[in-house]
Amino acid sequence: MGTRLVGLGKALPKLEIENDALQALVDTNDEWIFQRTGIRSRHVAVSESTLELACDAAALALGSAASASDGESAWCEEPIDPASIDLVICATLSADTLIPSAAASIKRVLGLENAVAFDLNAACSGFIYGLSVADSMLAASCALPEGAAKQTMRRALVVGVDRLSRILDWQDRSTCVLFGDGAGAAVVEWDAEAPGIIATCLKTIDDTKNTLTCASIFASNTPFDEQGKLLGDAEDPSYATLCESLEVEPELMKSTVHMAGQSVFRFASRALCSGIEAVLEQSGLTIDDIALIVPHQANERIIRYAAKRLDLDMDRFLVSLAHTGNTSAASVPIALAEAYASGKIKKGDKIIAVAFGAGLTYGALLFEA
Ligand code: UT7
Repeated sequence: MGTRLVGLGKALPKLEIENDALQALVDTNDEWIFQRTGIRSRHVAVSESTLELACDAAALALGSAASASDGESAWCEEPIDPASIDLVICATLSADTLIPSAAASIKRVLGLENAVAFDLNAACSGFIYGLSVADSMLAASCALPEGAAKQTMRRALVVGVDRLSRILDWQDRSTCVLFGDGAGAAVVEWDAEAPGIIATCLKTIDDTKNTLTCASIFASNTPFDEQGKLLGDAEDPSYATLCESLEVEPELMKSTVHMAGQSVFRFASRALCSGIEAVLEQSGLTIDDIALIVPHQANERIIRYAAKRLDLDMDRFLVSLAHTGNTSAASVPIALAEAYASGKIKKGDKIIAVAFGAGLTYGALLFEA
């Protein structure tokens, strides 16, 4: 018995920006971007909101919307009754609104009348964290004795969505070429017969060198000084206090993504290997039992590095970032939706999904499709 994936969907904004188009913004070129990352293009949400992308992906995962003509955006065992969704978790760091949460809005728009909904931020690892939290909640609920006075949950919608184009510094060539917008969603349900999710590993490592940061909108503009006097137009002292308590240099407290690329690269390639090794060890399975590894799609070179370290051929890994770039929390569910829809993942296959991101976070899941 376990939590099993029964539907997947992805949604990308209409506008696709090729590498060459970025030359008008920063000193870069297609050759550098493709060789260093494997990325050819990314989608940028101009008219689409985070909520729209999330709902499009979720409707596909629920089987309540027709898949796009490429046939690679959705897979669903059978259409799911919206009223049967008990839980919505939305993994994002770029929701349109702080309140209501993106998950609460998804619930409202899609008419998931019985669901409880909340957001979760674990950056690019968010979908893995979200699926793991959903798995724990379904498992705990399904272990309850008959008649227990606790809320029961059988089916969940987990969405990974990010629209980082809104928080990128488009003058910073070391970050703006890497990311794209998008959403991916999965419906999971408790299955008394099938194993579903077999092993999970979540880790958070202290980012002591502030390698991946973006300030929140709370970084400044408190109207009082520390004695409670109104400040007027004077500089906000809480900003300096905040930087001090977070141990972050003020110049890193910009509300755009800052990344120390090489440090993150080193962390990411180690995290991929550690996540894979951890779920294999927990499950008692070996890498030969695994049909496909679906890693976070940040940089093809990170995946190559992990493959080399684990002594695996690259064809054991799904690489699908060429036309999406790094879509943050959406990256793993987009890759999973494509792999299920195209038949790369078949029923009974054992799969590892693994991701890493700011925090520093990483996580992996081993499941049977
Ligand atoms: O999901 C969140 C997790 N994020 C990641 O996983 C990203 C991890 N890091 C990376 O993927 C890589 O470190 C990058 C793709 C960000 C950078 O690749 P790199 O091979 O580590 O390049 P680098 O930072 O060592 O830079 C090499 C050179 C530098 O020039 P100099 O100092 O050698 O003259 C950079 O200024 O490349 C330059 N450079 C660029 N050149 C053209 C940096 N960005 C660009 C660019 N176009 N876009």
